Amino acid sequence: MAYEPPLRDDLRGATPYGAPQLDVPVRLNTNENPFPPSPALADAIGAAAALAAGGLNRYPDRDARDLRQRLSDYLARESGVRVSVDEVWAANGSNEVMQHVFAAFGGPGRMALGFAPTYSMYEQYARDTFTRYVTVRRNPDFSLDATTVVAAMLGGSPSIVVLTSPNNPTGTALPLEVITAACATATGVVVVDEAYAEFRRPGVPSALTLLEANPNLIVTRTMSKAFALAGARVGYAIAHPAIVDALRIVRLPYHLSAVTQAVAATALDYVDELQGQVDTLRQERDALVAWLREHGVQAVDSDANFILFGVFADRHRAWRALLDRGVLVREVGPEGWLRVTVGTPEDNAAFRTALEVVIGEDGMMVAHGD
Ligand SMILES: Cc1ncc(COP(=O)(O)O)c(C=O)c1O
Repeated sequence: MAYEPPLRDDLRGATPYGAPQLDVPVRLNTNENPFPPSPALADAIGAAAALAAGGLNRYPDRDARDLRQRLSDYLARESGVRVSVDEVWAANGSNEVMQHVFAAFGGPGRMALGFAPTYSMYEQYARDTFTRYVTVRRNPDFSLDATTVVAAMLGGSPSIVVLTSPNNPTGTALPLEVITAACATATGVVVVDEAYAEFRRPGVPSALTLLEANPNLIVTRTMSKAFALAGARVGYAIAHPAIVDALRIVRLPYHLSAVTQAVAATALDYVDELQGQVDTLRQERDALVAWLREHGVQAVDSDANFILFGVFADRHRAWRALLDRGVLVREVGPEGWLRVTVGTPEDNAAFRTALEVVIGEDGMMVAHGD
């Protein structure tokens, strides 16, 4: 029997977010880490989950304090910035962290500002919290400067400014002066989405270093990428304790399951092993950028685990041609560009082999300068 549920007017016609989950040999479309947990880590996760299973009749630690403490220890190691447990917030993926941010600081009559092209989920967090979402274009090379950010902020008084660094889908990291300028101008909060921070090139700083001087700054991170834990759903934010308290108001009770907390805490014990894979992926990324350029393909400098490349006369045709050769990339970002996630060395070799054929087809690429 056909049934049309009484959906909110503003949601009519909307479709759920998500890239195609196609079963193809080489999946390079969702910025996952291609390396599965090692057998040792998988065993440790299994044991931790089994231990948690024995207590599942009880609700989990509502505030996930053990996990937040471990995340703080990890950050001290990774970025040299020591924060207290009260400055860390954790949730089911940085998606949920951001939803908390929008629920706490956005809302009816309030506005959030982002810089396009960028991660498309921000629009959804805004929609779901009745926050107006405005985007301003990045520079043609996808960089963003303090003048543009400050001018956009002064033009609209946003309650939330989202600065994504490294940005998805362009891979572009932001200089700290842009973030500092945004924090100095903000009447609301400034969120730096650092989902891909661990993949940044040497010398590229993290916004974590700015936290102490800027109480209105929120840095978000995730275990989905560098920790290869996308399936576990763990993201976190680092911010002033008063901001963390605000996020606690809008979270659902017991939002982070006991199993999730145990799994994430265990993965944090395997940082060295996981860091080795991150290093491999960074080398593979830089090699792939160089390869693309050598083959006449434009590739945006990347501080993430993916590369935006083009420019295709018809990107859907290029996407399809790669898929026909068993390689799934993402049709996202500005017209003419595609995004490839850096995979294992074997995945990347398969991508190069397929792409070499595809770019050789007549009329596939827009010539430089066109
Ligand atoms: C910029 C950015 N932020 C946040 C996320 C969400 O990550 P997760 O919810 O898995 O932590 C992604 C995922 O691709 C992303 O690209």
